[in-house]
Amino acid sequence: MKKLLLIVCMLAIPTVVVAWPWSRDLMNQPSIKPQEGPLNTYPKDSVPVKGLWTKVVDRDATEGMKNPVAPTKKSIAMGRALFLTYCLPCHGTSGKGDGLVGKVFEMQPADLTSDYVKNDLSDGWLWGTITFGSYIMPRYDYDMTPSERWDVVNFVRNVLEKRMTAKSKEERASQVLSGSAKKGGE
Ligand code: HEC
Repeated sequence: MKKLLLIVCMLAIPTVVVAWPWSRDLMNQPSIKPQEGPLNTYPKDSVPVKGLWTKVVDRDATEGMKNPVAPTKKSIAMGRALFLTYCLPCHGTSGKGDGLVGKVFEMQPADLTSDYVKNDLSDGWLWGTITFGSYIMPRYDYDMTPSERWDVVNFVRNVLEKRMTAKSKEERASQVLSGSAKKGGE
């Protein structure tokens, strides 16, 4: 009984008086408080400053940009992982614009395998769209580094757009036999 009373006291009293005694521990520690003293400089390379920032001002300025990242297996694999994380909800697994979240928009997300995206949009514009967003689509420059955004472009170009491009049985057969369907036709 005594033990129980002790436990009840321990639980109840600090709450009533102020708060748990340890709830202020984080504040009462040797650290620089807001507006106090000069900040120490950070150890070298502890804060990333390279490769994060986008140097262009808006999407129009990205139109003529050349893709500096070669579509290597590694880049495409990275692009795939990022696509499945960031683009899939709206553009769908296959990029056709049929993702579940995309359905809430009045305008369907673009079909990334369409001739429009394939032929009319430059690599730079794709990168610019990911960076700055589009008319409805949100921007993703805070979520991916510039080079990761190029990885997504590589995935769109080299996998999504190349899936099943054949328009006839003959074309499909010749693609498969020549191996050119392998690249995209997973
Ligand atoms: C929240 C939903 C959403 C997400 C997530 C999203 N998009 Fe979009 N996207 C849209 C919508 C809606 C459109 C069509 C309307 C527009 O252009 O804003 C679109 C259009 C586009 C276009 C066509 C732009 C143009 O100029 O016509 C491209 C390319 C594109 N998205 C690529 C991507 C890529 C790559 C990702 C992943 C990084 C992505 N989107 C993520 C909703 C989304």
